[in-house]
Amino acid sequence: MRVLVTGHQGYLGTVMVPELQRAGHDVTGLDSGYFAECVLGEAPPAPPTLSVDLRDVTVEQLAGFDAVVHLAALSNDPLGALAPQITYDINHHASVRLALLAKEAGVRRFLYASTCSVYGAAGDGLVAEDAPLRPLTPYAESKVRVEDDVAAIADSGFSPVFLRNATAFGFSPRLRADIVLNNLVGYAVLTGEVKVLSDGTPWRPLVHAQDIARAFATCLTAPIEAVHCRAYNVGTEANNLTVAQIAQAVVDVVPESTLAITGESGADPRSYRVDFGYARKELGFEATWSIPDGAAELYREYTARGLTADAFFQRFTRLAHLKSLKESGVLDDELRRIRTGV
Ligand SMILES: NC(=O)c1ccc[n+]([C@@H]2O[C@H](COP(=O)([O-])OP(=O)(O)OC[C@H]3O[C@@H](n4cnc5c(N)ncnc54)[C@H](O)[C@@H]3O)[C@@H](O)[C@H]2O)c1
Repeated sequence: MRVLVTGHQGYLGTVMVPELQRAGHDVTGLDSGYFAECVLGEAPPAPPTLSVDLRDVTVEQLAGFDAVVHLAALSNDPLGALAPQITYDINHHASVRLALLAKEAGVRRFLYASTCSVYGAAGDGLVAEDAPLRPLTPYAESKVRVEDDVAAIADSGFSPVFLRNATAFGFSPRLRADIVLNNLVGYAVLTGEVKVLSDGTPWRPLVHAQDIARAFATCLTAPIEAVHCRAYNVGTEANNLTVAQIAQAVVDVVPESTLAITGESGADPRSYRVDFGYARKELGFEATWSIPDGAAELYREYTARGLTADAFFQRFTRLAHLKSLKESGVLDDELRRIRTGV
């Protein structure tokens, strides 16, 4: 299958491209390159690449693909809060435009990277795909809007699928330090402390980046009528944990680290436990990575590849890196590229 992966130079894209290639797909990437140089260790081999901003993609660039895997986004809540309008421009408007152009170009499948944070503050019960969506941030709201608008253009020639991923963890050469497990392990490696800023009680569903990549690979080749316009939660119930439980798994793998639950930040009201049964039943998909295995993998990779504090807090922290690209004149206020570099 000829597959276009948008955001292929991001944290998940860098793991997904080789997974799709191993499955036999002919993969092209599309990315504006915000994090192209943000690599820990060796840079992975690049697939053929369209270096364009998602907001400028044309129908001609989409012609000839069987599927679009759409990952490109300003991909977390702090980024969305920093620039809500740009988050809507890229995550919502440009995504819907991409889907319309893909449909016009004759692309049959459109796999969209949505998020379990569309469920917002859902309490202690397990939320399945039919639960009410209560997005709490511009980032989560943008994901709900794309699901709604892209579902509205589905027809017999255009089949979108919405993969609502749990919060990712695990090693990717294009690392992210701003997601909970990656952050806690990195901070512990650098300082000896496993530091939880909340009171540790919120629930978080987690899933390894490689499991997300396998879920997309599974959807790509599933019978099109079975996945047409469906939403799937991507993760596993075993990884629905409280932040305090996640932190304990980190203490267990980082030698001589100590746990500090400071409770100083109560700002993030997200708390949800997710039911992943639908993807298991319909797609036969099972996420296999556990939190202890993921924490051990991260500890191993961080120490083997020489993670530094500077890289952890700057290059691998999306908000800090984008701010520095703006300050150094690489990106303008709308996060469009002014010149190449960094
Ligand atoms: N990482 C997670 O925990 C998680 C969880 C659920 C859903 N998701 C979703 O999965 C997708 C990928 O996440 P990620 O963690 O790899 O994010 P990321 O920030 O690491 O990568 C996003 C990529 O998109 C590119 N991009 C952003 N704006 C662009 C634009 N205007 N034009 C072209 N390219 C652009 C960036 O350069 C980057 O390479 C996102 O849509 C995200 O919302 C991620």
